[in-house]
Amino acid sequence: MKYWIETYGCQMNDHDSEVAAGILSERGLSPAGDIREAGLILLITCCVREKAEDKVYSRLGELRRLKQSNPGLLIGIAGCIPQRKAAAPALQRRFPYLDLILGTHNLQDLGRLVDQATASPESVVEVWPAPREVSEGVPRLRRSTFQAWVTISHGCNNVCSFCIVPHVRGPERSRLPEQILAEVEDLVGNGCLEVTLLGQNVNSYGRDLDPAKESLFPDLLRRVARVSGLRRLRFMTSHPKDCSLELIRVMAEYQTVCPHLHLPVQSGSDRILRKMRRGYDVARYRHLADRAREAVPGLALTTDLIVGFPGETEDDFQRTLSLVREVEFDAAFTFRYSPREGTAAARYADQVPEDQKASRLLGLNELQAAVSHRRNERLVGTLQEVLVEGPSQKDPARQVGRTRCGRTVILEGSATRAGEITVVEIASARAWTLYARTPGTPPSP
Ligand code: SAM
Ligand code: SF4
Ligand code: F3S
Repeated sequence: MKYWIETYGCQMNDHDSEVAAGILSERGLSPAGDIREAGLILLITCCVREKAEDKVYSRLGELRRLKQSNPGLLIGIAGCIPQRKAAAPALQRRFPYLDLILGTHNLQDLGRLVDQATASPESVVEVWPAPREVSEGVPRLRRSTFQAWVTISHGCNNVCSFCIVPHVRGPERSRLPEQILAEVEDLVGNGCLEVTLLGQNVNSYGRDLDPAKESLFPDLLRRVARVSGLRRLRFMTSHPKDCSLELIRVMAEYQTVCPHLHLPVQSGSDRILRKMRRGYDVARYRHLADRAREAVPGLALTTDLIVGFPGETEDDFQRTLSLVREVEFDAAFTFRYSPREGTAAARYADQVPEDQKASRLLGLNELQAAVSHRRNERLVGTLQEVLVEGPSQKDPARQVGRTRCGRTVILEGSATRAGEITVVEIASARAWTLYARTPGTPPSP
């Protein structure tokens, strides 16, 4: 049987898809080249915002037609949507043709559940209410041989009032440093050049482990950075509340650690940050941003921003715009606040009207695009090391790669190959993309 996996949401889900593919491949299933060839379609889903959830529901609606023309087809849903409290019965009612429903905490049981679903005419539903022990040794079928995600912690211990993630990923559970190092060494031994360490809050890594085995994040980063043969080490996400100057020192000290810090600030208003329960204020954030930019040459500082959080006034929003102007983020992921059932902020009475959120988001995006463009233009004429990732989706005659600071670079022609590290001169810049100069080829942004 062939399988087809579709992934929504964040890097955690990207990596979970690799685990799902690994489990299915180990059971003898193979990936389908086309969805119509698949005997099993699995959606790994996200519910961080309403839009993410709606995307999955409309996709499930489309898949119904495939099921009608191929009744033997199995359709499964996994990830964060089914993990929400009482989500499974609601999913079953709304999409009775679902054959398999599982959550985030029992993904490692996918093989057994697929076997059950294959054998049974009834749908198979298994969602654990809480995580069990951190499972090691799960198979993975990675998408790339030269870039890899490595999970360092699962779940999150924070209580950001807007966020559903702790509800669907459980409390923070760190993997042992030895397990993480062994995984990285194995990857590098098999030709991996770039590793990204993953956790919802990498800076609180290790706090839940046996104190005798204490290894907090800067220590872990240092140990991984020393793995011989590793060319690029990235990590995400850093929470400003737990981000230490020691982390910035390790970033500055080790050439392997890429000069990119993703440090979500969410808002430029202290009043809103308190209501969000983020545990830091704007002054602390600016201090961290300044120290990081001073210590790490060429650092790209990126962030996440939410507009229209309950009670956000025009003055609060203007503070966010001021912060963007002052800090000059290299890039930002910007979101319209989306109330999530079960979170504290969804119960706040002072919800901001949708049209106001929309116009604020527009204003913020315009400003950030101008700032990002300015920051990118500074790189025109410089030499940048690029890891080539493969042909551009828009134009397969061009290659796409990433600088050490994480910016996307377009390279003309097909002289370079995926997995190659090359040095290019930047010829021109747009807000989100750099263009490399190719000898004899005029730049074409
Ligand atoms: N753990 C990370 C952190 O603390 O920054 C990120 C978690 S979340 C997957 C990624 C981003 O989604 C958050 O930083 C936040 O900006 C945004 N987000 C989370 N919940 C949201 C909500 N209810 N509405 C809008 N944006 C949200
Ligand atoms: Fe959500 Fe906050 Fe945890 Fe990030 S730190 S996953 S925003 S609760
Ligand atoms: Fe990620 Fe979405 Fe789940 S952002 S942790 S996939 S709710």
